[in-house]
Amino acid sequence: MPPPSTNPTARIAIVGAGQVGGAVAYALILGSVACELLLIDVKVDLRDGQVRDLSDVAYATGGGMRVRAATHHEAGQCDIVVITAGSKYGFGETSIQHMQRNISVIRNVVKAMTPFRSDAIVLVVSNPVDLLTSIVQELAGLPKSQVFGSGTFLDSVRLRGLLADKAGVAANSIQLFVLGVHGDCQVVAWSSATIHGIPLDKVLSPDGFSHDELAQECKERAENIFHAKGATQFGVGSVVASICASILFDKRDVRPISHFQPEFGCCFSLPVILGRKGIIKTIKIPLGSEENAAIARSAERLKSTLERIDT
Ligand code: LAC
Repeated sequence: MPPPSTNPTARIAIVGAGQVGGAVAYALILGSVACELLLIDVKVDLRDGQVRDLSDVAYATGGGMRVRAATHHEAGQCDIVVITAGSKYGFGETSIQHMQRNISVIRNVVKAMTPFRSDAIVLVVSNPVDLLTSIVQELAGLPKSQVFGSGTFLDSVRLRGLLADKAGVAANSIQLFVLGVHGDCQVVAWSSATIHGIPLDKVLSPDGFSHDELAQECKERAENIFHAKGATQFGVGSVVASICASILFDKRDVRPISHFQPEFGCCFSLPVILGRKGIIKTIKIPLGSEENAAIARSAERLKSTLERIDT
């Protein structure tokens, strides 16, 4: 849990008050990450219902965080803007049609928020997260270091958890990143995995688990959750709240998040140091040649999708 807020003025806006936005808000309130939480949604009844329900959480925890409804313009003036807006699949809709619809939703919400406060951080959570982060960067009018996406941070947390369960070692003692494009093309950086700096395979006997099976289970996890309950929400809500805490408390945590990759001209996840100014520094971790090639392939695929769609 992040430390209680020491910044009496920090405000976080959540644009999109559905299941993901609600879970982000819930985790932020439990962690007392800011002093005010602004909820924005074109579905006014949903937004107002979430404001009341989440205000009850704030009353119950006694952390003093205020929750209120707000406009897009007010959102753009907050310290952090979390974008969870987007729509579910429509009946008979193809993935390209769904993506086009989400692009137009995101484009409209970003336009309604501009001009952003000059030191605002914009965190994209809506899917497809790498593609939408690339688009938001173009539209936001902010330095690229202030606009990024949740990317493969959740996948990294999931994989560490799955490995921890198999290997009988605490997840927070494992350093292991899932990188690249969030979703089917994500890449596990097994070659740099360690337990407190000692290569993973020197500490853990690989007899009890297979790298490929764990990576596959991690990759399929969101889809499995989606099939069972219609959405993933609490996992992503928790990692987004943790990213917000890294920013507002200038914690300098190393996180794999989606950010601009000049070599490819699009956004995907590699590790960075996070602080109040956003991405403070990118971290180059040594990767195997197959891992580098897999990341490059997924980036090229994303780039060619970006070139084909009507942004
Ligand atoms: C997931 C969503 C956030 O992986 O993409 O759960």
